[in-house]
Amino acid sequence: MALITLTYAFVGIASAACLYMTLRAIYRLTLHPLVSFPGPRLRAVSHLPHAFSGWRGRQPYDVRDLHRDYGPVVRIAPDLLSFTSPSAWQDIYGHQAAKNLVKYGYFRVREDAQPMLTSFGADHVRQRTAFSHGFSDRAISEQEPALAQHIEQFLAQLRKSSRDRTIVDVGTMLRFLSFDIVGKYALSTDFGCLENNAYHPWVALLLLWFRTVTYVQNALAMGILAPFLMLFVPRRMLNSVKDHLRMSAEKVQQRLAVGDDPNIRDLWTYILQNKGEKGLTTGEMEVNAAVLLVAGTDPIADAIAGTLYFLAINPAAKKKLYDEIDGVITSQENQIVTMASTKRMPYIHACLNEGMRLYPPIPGGMRRQVAAGKTSTVAGYSLPEKTVVSVWQLPTFTLPHHFSSHDQFIPERWLPANHPDRPAYTLHDRQEAFQPFSVGPKNCLGKGLSYAEMKLILAQFLWHFEFELADNAFDIEKQKSYVFRDRPPLRVKLVERFL
Ligand code: HEM
Repeated sequence: MALITLTYAFVGIASAACLYMTLRAIYRLTLHPLVSFPGPRLRAVSHLPHAFSGWRGRQPYDVRDLHRDYGPVVRIAPDLLSFTSPSAWQDIYGHQAAKNLVKYGYFRVREDAQPMLTSFGADHVRQRTAFSHGFSDRAISEQEPALAQHIEQFLAQLRKSSRDRTIVDVGTMLRFLSFDIVGKYALSTDFGCLENNAYHPWVALLLLWFRTVTYVQNALAMGILAPFLMLFVPRRMLNSVKDHLRMSAEKVQQRLAVGDDPNIRDLWTYILQNKGEKGLTTGEMEVNAAVLLVAGTDPIADAIAGTLYFLAINPAAKKKLYDEIDGVITSQENQIVTMASTKRMPYIHACLNEGMRLYPPIPGGMRRQVAAGKTSTVAGYSLPEKTVVSVWQLPTFTLPHHFSSHDQFIPERWLPANHPDRPAYTLHDRQEAFQPFSVGPKNCLGKGLSYAEMKLILAQFLWHFEFELADNAFDIEKQKSYVFRDRPPLRVKLVERFL
């Protein structure tokens, strides 16, 4: 009897669920406010295809293919629109847009304190102002000796490998370098990745976190199924977030206990010096340090690795870059690569931009939601409340109608319009579509630091080494991406230029 009752109950619940899903699918295909936007019908009905693409690490590539089929705006999931129009950057992320659109899908890392990445309004402005001193031009040039020291360690490891005639995974070495740099600057911690030629356990934990964020974001987007799907996120992944936050907090506490010390020049030097201007709570310092370690590491390593890859397969661009570096450095008395000397290298800047265009470090879209009770206009479309929108970087940077010879590595397209090397066919490129650091009040705070750091690392590497690819493992089209890239090794053969 009990079994029969149970069976009836199960059939009843299953039927009700089926009916609910069928009615919801019909609504999403007929009456939903986004019904007029193009996209595959299955994506209009369910979030599942987009989530599945995320779990496979293929979202940026799948969204790119959708844009190629459906045009500049695509309904990639029931409530999710992806835009590629250059004007969408300002419409979604610009100063005006911030009034009606809020960040969406960024989970709160701690209940009692939010980092600037997930804070809003006056809280965001206060935090951003406090941190901006540590990213000013002055702070960047004050960091040069510390950067030079880390880069020297990077070069020393590469020298050792090249003398041993081993093939080097320069992609991993760049990751070691970027973690050592930001670990020291934002957490006063020596990860020693380069010294030990291995990931510090904390860094290994973070790499797991990058993946966790994508899993959790996609699970949470599945509505009533979310709690069930969260059960499948492995415990060690969720623990990686907690452990990272705990260890970051401990490091910040230790650094604050040292206080303002003239022998230390790191991010906290600037925070401690400027505490008069409505500083940060201790909790905010702790969560921001945790976020900086994530935000400031992999994107830098990815941008340089991607650029090196494209240089390796484009010998003419590679030679031109070597010529530029050699020309600037040999004309100097000390013959040392410095931040000042890289400012006289326009082609290195162009190569990094072109590398990030074809291989953006953040290939996906940063989501914003039209706030409750508001509407928003994006690329000429009026959008109702609760619509989630984003500009996906990989699709936007590689569309044929944004960039001529869109899939070719042509750094010259970033030279000034009147430069003799600028190809005429690139003069109509939609350069404003390329925003790897985003735009508006929440754009990348580390943009200036990133360019200075990337140029210094790349110029130093090329000044000291000749390189060529050792294999085809770094096939970009086959790579996966979970918030950041999950990239394969970039193995190169190195030859020292000055023995
Ligand atoms: C090539 C390197 C980098 C790229 C492409 C990049 C890209 C971005 C993007 C697209 C955002 C906006 C995120 C959003 O809207 O959710 C962002 C935010 C941010 N980035 Fe970067 N980033 C890079 C390097 C760095 C570095 C080196 C640091 C610091 C050490 C840094 C610190 C930050 C911070 C603090 C934010 C949050 C800003 C705010 O919310 O006001 N980034 N970055």
